[in-house]
Amino acid sequence: MYTTITPLLSAAAQTGYTVGAFNAHNLEMLPPMIQAARDLGAPIIIQTSAGTARYVGMRNFVAVCRTLADNEAVDVALHLDHATSIEDIEDAITAGYSSVMYDGSALPFTQNIVASQRVVEYAHARDVSVEAEIGTIGGTEDGIEHEHGNYTQPEEVTAFLDAVDCDALAISIGTNHGQFRDKTQLDFPLLERIHAVTDRPLVVHGGTGVDEADYPRLMANGIRKFNVGTELLVGWTRSAQEALAASPVNRSLRHNMIPANDTVRDVVSHKITLFLGVPVQR
Ligand code: 13P
Repeated sequence: MYTTITPLLSAAAQTGYTVGAFNAHNLEMLPPMIQAARDLGAPIIIQTSAGTARYVGMRNFVAVCRTLADNEAVDVALHLDHATSIEDIEDAITAGYSSVMYDGSALPFTQNIVASQRVVEYAHARDVSVEAEIGTIGGTEDGIEHEHGNYTQPEEVTAFLDAVDCDALAISIGTNHGQFRDKTQLDFPLLERIHAVTDRPLVVHGGTGVDEADYPRLMANGIRKFNVGTELLVGWTRSAQEALAASPVNRSLRHNMIPANDTVRDVVSHKITLFLGVPVQR
């Protein structure tokens, strides 16, 4: 079923697992992602940056996600990742995205509250779920560099969630976007303090840089949406580069795309298996 993130995250909270949210960069990536979820009987969140959404066409992402959700009998949410512009949010909702992230984390705290709650009112009135963010997640995303600034503080979480009726909250506990060469050091005592003050589903960004050995502790502390982007991007690009380099220029393109898509399927499948709480070895 094509759905919002809300029922997916609340089912995850009941049993203590987390839902994988995977960044797609093109339409090619969607079938292997969604088929991997179907094979494991798991829900999946597909997310796109506003830039990718505009490149592919928002309605195209919606059409493919809806079709695959129906044909493959799997729960799929399509989420706009890190939107800072209200126009992007309105366009995504109009196109049929089932979920949006409003990222007001660069704004002064009170302005973030006001703007996030406005987005919640607009989106909820249209049956679309909302993720908000407080604290700054470092690293590079969609070519934009962010300093690793302030980690999310529990008192801010309480104040923010008292005013903002969002469906999920992205927090900063030491992750960085785009970290694929090494792994990050997470501040687990901070996460535990945040989890102690709220039941709201929490979101980890920069999942590529998180050590897989840390997943169980994240899931035990309220992380219900887990974003993975760069690992898929790097895997897809490396496989495509290899195939294209070895290919005659007039070889049917699918022969070069299939290995790249298979890499995406394998990474998504591996991650979802771990997110369901099943220990596996690579
Ligand atoms: P990575 O690309 O570092 O895995 O992060 C993905 C993400 O958090 C998207 O918002």
